[in-house]
Amino acid sequence: MHEPADDGPGHRSRDDGTAMEAEFDTVARWTADAAVELGPDHFLPAACRGSGSPGAMRWLLDRLAVGGRDTMLDCGAGLGGPAAFATGETGARLLLCDPEAGACRGAARLFGLPAVRADSRLPFRSAAVDVAWSLGVLCTVDDQPLLLSELRRVLRPGGRMGLLIYVAAHPPLPEQPEGNDFPTDTVARAMIDAAGFTLHDSATTGDMAAAPPEWTERAVAVQDLLERRHGDDPRWRTAARQSGIMGRLLGDGDLVGTLYHATAR
Ligand SMILES: C[S@@+](CC[C@H](N)C(=O)[O-])C[C@H]1O[C@@H](n2cnc3c(N)ncnc32)[C@H](O)[C@@H]1O
Repeated sequence: MHEPADDGPGHRSRDDGTAMEAEFDTVARWTADAAVELGPDHFLPAACRGSGSPGAMRWLLDRLAVGGRDTMLDCGAGLGGPAAFATGETGARLLLCDPEAGACRGAARLFGLPAVRADSRLPFRSAAVDVAWSLGVLCTVDDQPLLLSELRRVLRPGGRMGLLIYVAAHPPLPEQPEGNDFPTDTVARAMIDAAGFTLHDSATTGDMAAAPPEWTERAVAVQDLLERRHGDDPRWRTAARQSGIMGRLLGDGDLVGTLYHATAR
């Protein structure tokens, strides 16, 4: 396993001043700092950055039937919140990867979970894992079929896969966060099938139980601290603009957080 900030063989640098770098590298690093300052009970809410609620993660973990003997990959793990949640709920051994150094370092710092720095060309053996999930990642990658085919490659036949994809309900969208490409549900299903998966179940994040109030309060406390500390920084404003657009699209029903449960054929 690589050290958190090392370049994995599949890593393509995004050290390029884009909105994605601001959001997933710089702000991830700041978020880990803020969570450490606020204390360990803030780590999980701070570090679940695309996965929505514990209810959505539990829905997937139940369907994926993750157990303590499984090796599970979190692809695009961000700050490691969902991976820490999964290992806490199931006892599975988690592997993490993400292209951004700030995210990989944060996962190690907050949860002691080492992450390989890699993008869609996953630096793992074929058929190496029993379960994989990728939460809020697919719409941020350039080549979505490549990421899905790589997930298929590293899963053993019959292995289970969970996705959270933000799907476009009525394209074209009225506005678009930079660097994102949202498939429709029909296109997402076709891509999942074409990559060699059989789809079993799906649900929308709106169907899931709301996060407990203390989870939401802690997530808000982290956001408030970040805003106070970095509110004047252009990288914060870029990331805040991105999440503002996401919030409006989700609030207006233009985007729908959709969970998919599939197995590798
Ligand atoms: C919205 S965040 C979600 C993070 C985490 N899955 C969660 O739910 O908290 C999207 C993550 O995908 C990562 N990412 C972007 N392109 C990727 C790629 N090609 N392969 C794997 N991860 C990627 C980003 O660096 C970022 O950490």
